[in-house]
Amino acid sequence: MTEKNIESLLHEDRSFEPPVEFASAARLGNREDYDAIRSKAAADPEAFWASIAEELHWFRKWDQVLDWSNPPFAKWFVGAKTNISHNCLDRNLDRGLGDKTAILWEGEPGDRREISYSELHASVCEFAGALLAKGIKAGDRIALYMPMVPELAIAMLACARIGATHSIVFGGFSADSLRDRINDAEAAMVITADGGWRRGKVLALKDIVDDAVVQCPSVKNVIVLKRCENEVAWDEERDTWWHDALVGVAPLQAAAELDAEHPLFILYTSGTTGKPKGVVHSTGGYMTQAYITTRWIFDLKDDDIYWCTADIGWVTGHSYIVYGPLMNGASVVMYEGAPDTPGKDRFWDIVERYGVTVLYTAPTAIRTFMKWGDELPASHDLSSLRLLGTVGEPINPEAWMWYRRVIGGDRCPIVDTWWQTETGAIMISPVPGAVTTKPGSATLPFPGIDAEVVDSDGEPVAANQGGLLVIRKPWPGMLRTIYGDPERFKEQYWARIPGMYFAGDGARRDEDGYFWIMGRIDDVMNVSGHRLGTMEVESALVGHEAVTEAAVVGRPDDVKGEAVAAFVTLGPGYEGDDELAAALRAHVGKEIGAFAKPDDIRFTDALPKTRSGKIMRRLLRDIAAGRDEVGDTTTLEDYSVLASLREDD
Ligand code: PRX
Repeated sequence: MTEKNIESLLHEDRSFEPPVEFASAARLGNREDYDAIRSKAAADPEAFWASIAEELHWFRKWDQVLDWSNPPFAKWFVGAKTNISHNCLDRNLDRGLGDKTAILWEGEPGDRREISYSELHASVCEFAGALLAKGIKAGDRIALYMPMVPELAIAMLACARIGATHSIVFGGFSADSLRDRINDAEAAMVITADGGWRRGKVLALKDIVDDAVVQCPSVKNVIVLKRCENEVAWDEERDTWWHDALVGVAPLQAAAELDAEHPLFILYTSGTTGKPKGVVHSTGGYMTQAYITTRWIFDLKDDDIYWCTADIGWVTGHSYIVYGPLMNGASVVMYEGAPDTPGKDRFWDIVERYGVTVLYTAPTAIRTFMKWGDELPASHDLSSLRLLGTVGEPINPEAWMWYRRVIGGDRCPIVDTWWQTETGAIMISPVPGAVTTKPGSATLPFPGIDAEVVDSDGEPVAANQGGLLVIRKPWPGMLRTIYGDPERFKEQYWARIPGMYFAGDGARRDEDGYFWIMGRIDDVMNVSGHRLGTMEVESALVGHEAVTEAAVVGRPDDVKGEAVAAFVTLGPGYEGDDELAAALRAHVGKEIGAFAKPDDIRFTDALPKTRSGKIMRRLLRDIAAGRDEVGDTTTLEDYSVLASLREDD
């Protein structure tokens, strides 16, 4: 697809100024001051980011803010030494926040824990000591495959404390996906749990790890947290219970003094090829951007109770459950389970009981709640809420308005935050006390971020015209490379428009300069806010013995944003019936994870191709979406294919 195809049909006239009461108490409470910060930052981004970095703790300050002498490989805060675990913990103890609650945790069955900053600090120091005792060194990679329990945050902060690079794999991924991620990163250790609670059942994580690690030669140790008391198989050589790993270990009090560019984490994400990319983030720059975006966009104050409902297995949880809020000394709610267990009002029950003031969730969740009805939130007191946020996919104005009215009682501003695994932290978003919002728009780039909508020559397009979303200058939280594949890093993000980072999204700016994100324009789907490459699902499908060829596209879905539609051709002797469709769905579930299972599978004798043999995905997208007017078919090789595909509608 080119930017010429990017068309926006959305027309939205409503706008909402920051409520006076909110703005008067906000960290950034008026547009003039905010514009002054933005212009100053635009004129000298390095000075802006350095001034923010000054607020954090550094063992040694930088010699140079940015080294961009070898683009696209950036170095921020060159020569500086720091530690993000120190900034999340020790710095808060030094500020007198030791007794403040850091984590308000709730398990799905209803068990609860409240952990203060000094308790969290002690647990992290202890577990960091346990990692060292297992022979882990700075620079080693550790895979984390855990439920949403405080120990996941403790493990991350302990890795960061000693300089081990964590690679968190979301608990919904299958053993095969976990294995591939462990092997790509050559992780020395896996940290997991016996299980985690999801919809009243135990998800047996340790069993999945056992299946994966038999094919992972780099893994020497598996540490297992006891969470669900379910039976697990045991390898005496390799496995250690978390509680046993702590016995007799000296806690690591002093955090390692790490180079600002030391790799903090790897997080795998989908791209346009079948192989997931290991996005590498480093320490000092990521820390600075995660810190200030949390502070300004969520307007965090000392008495806020902040809840981001994401899973820590995705980047949102990294930056806005753990690192960003803890660096700000916030009290963070963390919930283990599903939103519909035991009842469909679980989220509203949590908001009421903890008095949540800032809530950050995803459009797919909001649309689900809309479907479940207004009565559920209405049966709870949500008056503690003062600010709402969304992330992960475009939010349709109807869902935005519902969120504002039903959850926010028409009083809470909404921050629609655009960013990516690769950007590390929020890039485009309103700052709620200063920026007027419009339903469906992520509004304006954060200070110091040079975002633009351009044509394929890199020229900005006119107002209200669709184009490619790019970032024109390096930013501190940017990914540094793709793990083990710097060429792919260059090729994937910096080659399409030379000298600019291309995000993969289409967008337009309106007459006020507001950004309206229109979604992916490459072969990446966004299913319930989770990125999934069409190629990943295709390679899983063709890995099944019955399948000769497969093409996968996204189609619009009211709740999930996009649903996965697969077109499949079969080898001789196979019958395209319901049973085979079920087997193929199960196969994709095993290869990638349950969330990737196709919603539709259509069997076809052939796929529509151009004369040069390229699958015509645009055409398939039209067919999957049930659009009557199928686009341009002039290059179609075999018209009968199209006729037969449409007969199946
Ligand atoms: O297409 C954009 C969409 O999610 C993609 C990034 O996905 P991921 O790396 O998994 O990170 C999601 C959480 C940060 C983007 O390329 N996206 C994310 N936020 C928004 C969005 N689309 C529209 N509006 C948003 N606020």
